[in-house]
Amino acid sequence: MFKKFLALTLLVIAPLSFADNCKLTIEGNDQMQFNTKSLTAPASCKEVTVTLKHTGKLKANVMGHNWALAEAKDFQGIAAAGAKAGAANNYLPKGDKKVLAHTKVIGGGESTSVTFKTAGLKGKSLKFFCSFPGHWAIMNGDFKIQ
Ligand code: CO
Repeated sequence: MFKKFLALTLLVIAPLSFADNCKLTIEGNDQMQFNTKSLTAPASCKEVTVTLKHTGKLKANVMGHNWALAEAKDFQGIAAAGAKAGAANNYLPKGDKKVLAHTKVIGGGESTSVTFKTAGLKGKSLKFFCSFPGHWAIMNGDFKIQ
């Protein structure tokens, strides 16, 4: 009886814990900082979900944060183009395929998430960053799939 219960429990728990590895969380604050400089997703994840929580109080037009992903060689150029693209485009160049994934821009107390496929990203040098004007230089980090 107990063995059967245990087996059933493992069956239920195993897929959930596997899926959770593919869900990452990052925080941004009113000091223009992310709470980590590095995010890693297991290579077994076909899709990754990144949730961004803004733990501050300032509004999105003052201290907006988003989470964007690009190859390291592209991210500064994207941030510069994003500043021109404006708030309506979440400070990202519209339709630019070099933007590999991104959330919308949020303000204090809000959260948002993005789910993206990992195919083709493994082995690449990737950076995540906030594209709000002036934030990318501080608000960036390495994204690894391994
Ligand atoms: Co920001």
